[in-house]
Amino acid sequence: MRTAATKDASTKDAATKDAATKVAATGEVATFEVILKIRRNNPEASGEHEAGAGYWQEFRVKVHSTERILDALHTIKWEQDGSLTFRRSCAHGVCGSDAMRINGRNRLACKALIKDLHPSRPITIEPIQGLPVLKDLIVDMEPFFASYREIMPFLMPSGDAPKRERLQSPEQRARFEDTTKCILCAACTTSCPVFWTDGQYFGPAAIVNAHRFIFDSRDDAAWERLEILNDRDGVWKCRTTFNCTDACPRGIQVTEAISQVKRALATHRV
Ligand code: SF4
Ligand code: FES
Repeated sequence: MRTAATKDASTKDAATKDAATKVAATGEVATFEVILKIRRNNPEASGEHEAGAGYWQEFRVKVHSTERILDALHTIKWEQDGSLTFRRSCAHGVCGSDAMRINGRNRLACKALIKDLHPSRPITIEPIQGLPVLKDLIVDMEPFFASYREIMPFLMPSGDAPKRERLQSPEQRARFEDTTKCILCAACTTSCPVFWTDGQYFGPAAIVNAHRFIFDSRDDAAWERLEILNDRDGVWKCRTTFNCTDACPRGIQVTEAISQVKRALATHRV
């Protein structure tokens, strides 16, 4: 049963959306105040907020209804607390550098519209899970990229280089089209409960990027990659929880890609 407080918050969220729609019609942009509750962590801190302890800090920010979490983080950094630390580059969902846990779910800060995040309540922002936190919302991505490098994410054709491009039919291309969209944001891997409990697991992103070459008709190293993923820390650790598919900001069918890799290993056919 919904409580009065929940109802009240839903009404406020609906009012925020309504206001945004109305002003969109008139060409104006609505503004409203939002509370961001951010997980802070400073390894060099001492005193009240000791290194590694981590704590929550709230910020009140006035935002436009068209703004995203990344815009609000910028406003805080530029106007309230210059020490707030986070990664970002393109601001348009392309570079994959600003994956973070927003309201308990992995998303790209530059794609998360504030008005869609129940802004009548504080919005929580934390670093992605399962990787060491370096500072505030920044994690050490090295273990993630180490797994990526292990699956040899580059084309390995055999024989001499051809005089012209390597031809491929639309059907051959379609087999790995989905996995070419990966931007290496780590949202999938760091939403995986197996990865949280066992950092040795390759993780969904490495398998997605192996899939991209395993099923490419121009590549001749599929079995080398499959052997790597047949390892005890490879695809068989996947428990098909679908967290990875839900988290992927590119809409990649991550669990399906992992299943195709498992099937290739089980049937000895690519
Ligand atoms: S598969 Fe999706 S969630 Fe995972 S790293 Fe690639 S883009 Fe990010
Ligand atoms: S800043 Fe590049 S994907 Fe968000």
